[in-house]
Amino acid sequence: MLVPMKILVDHAMKHQYGIGAFNANNMEQIQAIMEAARETGSPVIIQASRGALQYSQFTFFKYLILAVEEAYPDVPFAAHLDHGNTLEAVKKAIDLGFSSVMIDGSLMEDGKTASTYEYNVQVTKSVVDYAHQYGVTVEGEIGTLGGIEDGVGSGEIHLTDPLQAKEFVAETGLDTLAIAIGTSHGAYKFTSTPLLALNVVQEIKSLMPDLPLVMHGASSVPRELTNKINQYGGRMPDAIGVPITSIQEAIKLGVAKINVDTDGRMAITATIREIFQKHPEKFDPRDYLKPAREALKELVAAKMNDFGAHGRGKDIAQINLTAARKFYQSH
Ligand code: G3H
Ligand code: 13P
Ligand code: ZN
Repeated sequence: MLVPMKILVDHAMKHQYGIGAFNANNMEQIQAIMEAARETGSPVIIQASRGALQYSQFTFFKYLILAVEEAYPDVPFAAHLDHGNTLEAVKKAIDLGFSSVMIDGSLMEDGKTASTYEYNVQVTKSVVDYAHQYGVTVEGEIGTLGGIEDGVGSGEIHLTDPLQAKEFVAETGLDTLAIAIGTSHGAYKFTSTPLLALNVVQEIKSLMPDLPLVMHGASSVPRELTNKINQYGGRMPDAIGVPITSIQEAIKLGVAKINVDTDGRMAITATIREIFQKHPEKFDPRDYLKPAREALKELVAAKMNDFGAHGRGKDIAQINLTAARKFYQSH
């Protein structure tokens, strides 16, 4: 069942587990993520970036969400716009049937240049005012992540200032907040031992105990996947991600939504590279897309277990966007 993302993250925060938000661009990725959710009994967030929506030509994503609703009525899921850059992008996602949107006002419209606090408040508030009329959840961001290889990020990390975050939440009325604690997008997050600013999570939580927090750039970049990709002709030297133990600590401190894209890309790529090298005679896309889908499912299921989300799906209230709209009207 499609639910507003707020229902999922509020539940996760209350019960100290993490909801995986997995990026998807196509049918196979969505099927893998949903199958993992069903198998582990987990609630889940499917998220599409602006690039993913363009890739799927928008309309196809709309019908993929509808297909998920029909095929997985037993799995509570949210469809979420990742790194929306303008109110127009948000409006488009809501038109497509998304139950949640991110407005990343920490960056300017180009998704690269760091913005001012005033700009961030203005654009985030305009999205909150619009989205809540439809019962749609809003994620904002304050502080900036590193990593520019995906076209998202200024390349510089500015850790979130907890007091500024409190002011930002009060001024915008958002539902969930992405914070910068030292992670980056992509496969090259650290040059030496990975270290997260978990004290920042703790401070934000002490100021806003009821606010679900979001960790972007949460891929772990598993060594076995880099090795496999490199073994079968790829080139991913020195890729380093966030250790699962750090993510689990962050979850205990109040992070409720965990964004993962890179690891899924790597699981797919490693599988396809292996098949291409071992079976050069194969040319039916199903011969490599099916195992790639299975590999992604396994990866996602393992993460759901690691985040503590397994078995939680049955406890999620079946609340739709209309009920959420009424909630926002009365608050
Ligand atoms: O935050 C970035 C996500 O990994 C999405 O990447 O814009 O290449 O689809 P993308
Ligand atoms: P990764 O690149 O670590 O998978 O992060 C994805 C993300 O934050 C999407 O918003
Ligand atoms: Zn992100």
